[in-house]
Amino acid sequence: MAACEPPRHHGATRLSCPTPATTTGSSSNLCSFLNRVVSTWLLCAVLSLVVFNLLWFYPIGAPLNVASTLLQYFTATSGEGKHPSIYWSGGGEEGSCDYSEGRWVATAGHARRYNATECNAKESERCIGNGRPDTGYLDWRWQPASCELPAFDAAAFIAAVRGKHVAFVGDSMARNQVESLVCLLGSAFPYHLVYRDPRPSERRFWRWAFPTHNVTVSVYWAPFLARSAGKTDDYRQPRNLVYLDALAKRWSADADTMDVVVLSQGHWFWIPTIYHNGSEVIGMHNVTGLKHTDDIGLFSPYRWTLRMALERLVGSGNRTVVVATFSPSHFKKAWDDPTTCTRTRPYEEGEKEVGGIEGELRSIAMEEVATASARSGGRGSRVEVLDVTKLATMRPDGHPGVYMHHDPFARGVPKRLQSDCLHFCLPGPVDTFNEILLQLLIRKR
Ligand SMILES: *[C@@H]1O[C@H](CO)[C@@H](O)[C@H](O)[C@H]1NC(C)=O
Ligand SMILES: *[C@@H]1O[C@H](CO)[C@@H](O)[C@H](O)[C@H]1NC(C)=O
Ligand SMILES: *[C@@H]1O[C@H](CO)[C@@H](O)[C@H](O)[C@H]1NC(C)=O
Ligand SMILES: *[C@@H]1O[C@H](CO)[C@@H](O)[C@H](O)[C@H]1NC(C)=O
Ligand SMILES: *[C@@H]1O[C@H](CO)[C@@H](O)[C@H](O)[C@H]1NC(C)=O
Repeated sequence: MAACEPPRHHGATRLSCPTPATTTGSSSNLCSFLNRVVSTWLLCAVLSLVVFNLLWFYPIGAPLNVASTLLQYFTATSGEGKHPSIYWSGGGEEGSCDYSEGRWVATAGHARRYNATECNAKESERCIGNGRPDTGYLDWRWQPASCELPAFDAAAFIAAVRGKHVAFVGDSMARNQVESLVCLLGSAFPYHLVYRDPRPSERRFWRWAFPTHNVTVSVYWAPFLARSAGKTDDYRQPRNLVYLDALAKRWSADADTMDVVVLSQGHWFWIPTIYHNGSEVIGMHNVTGLKHTDDIGLFSPYRWTLRMALERLVGSGNRTVVVATFSPSHFKKAWDDPTTCTRTRPYEEGEKEVGGIEGELRSIAMEEVATASARSGGRGSRVEVLDVTKLATMRPDGHPGVYMHHDPFARGVPKRLQSDCLHFCLPGPVDTFNEILLQLLIRKR
């Protein structure tokens, strides 16, 4: 399935780093000062109205009631008391919102949140900068079936991870999401790139710091989570070698430093791979001409590697581990057909169902999270599912397509041109992954 081939890298990559902090102009300082004054004032006004109502309707001498009623309606988070923000808990019990099912609702400008050039997102995901002419894909928000998903709030997110190391581990979807997060946080807080690997165009190991809140954000390339060699290290190789008895070194060596971990894998399990357990070959998938070795498909290796990673992360320490479910690609034709993904609108409700394989990968992620969560017994580490399969399935319009290249039609329309119908544009639907991640982080156990 060509759909699952991570796009090859193209063109010369220029990088200017470290990325400077944004919001430096005096006019923007003035604006944000006024915003703060106004929103603080509004917050006070709203709160006093609520308190007034509560005092009016509740008997005196029931302060606990008042407090818990207040909490039912609001979770007020304050980034150092400077950025007050209110969350409408939106129906249902607090913390019970299920973001899995829902629909995309037209909302002008909802996803127009940052300039991907300013936060130095990977060139192939800067759709606007690369000249994508339609921008309607930025005018949608995810509406869960039975509650509300608040828009991303950088102050709330950074307050939730103050002093912490937030690590994304996995394939290029992990990278797509980390870059979205850096852009979302970076539009409100100063930051810089601390480290990048020697092959900057690949962006396999990068780390950023947000010094005002002592927050570190990293991404670790480990498309199988487990130790691997071959294609995962060098894309020209024909296949992967994956070791089901060991985790990939780089991230597992740093695991003890991670307070929040987002695991995101799946797309590499289609690619020809030989699986080992120690020195023994225990199976393969999609490798031709290999006699006496069974094709073990992709579900078992996906489950085993996820389980091994969860055992490492949940078994010790006190952290939040989040497993992102599979986010499918939308190649309609050959990978190098320039019209392979050209939709400009999400699928309508009922137009597209979650595919069988995608659904099965999603179920495996849910099952492994439930098992790991039961094992941790509500103490120590917490395990959550970031269920994006449905919302991502519905967004064929959110990929760069041919706008993974800068100005792709500068010299006419070529017959063959690689498209990216797998990752999402920045800004784009992947920002919603981080909107949900924020809600998981501030949710009580
Ligand atoms: C086998 O690998 C190729 C090349 O990556 C891919 O296009 C195809 O979908 C894979 N097939 C299966 C059955 O996973
Ligand atoms: C984004 O930022 C770059 C660099 O600062 C600038 O050249 C470009 O015009 C900006 N794009 C938009 C859409 O504002
Ligand atoms: C910053 O966070 C790290 C953990 O990520 C902690 O060890 C360190 O003490 C913190 N530093 C400050 C100044 O808070
Ligand atoms: C690898 O071998 C060990 C020891 O024989 C066994 O316990 C484990 O289940 C095997 N793992 C897989 C994925 O087959
Ligand atoms: C884990 O951390 C949370 C929040 O920091 C804390 O409330 C809880 O008591 C800790 N649990 C353990 C077992 O250390």
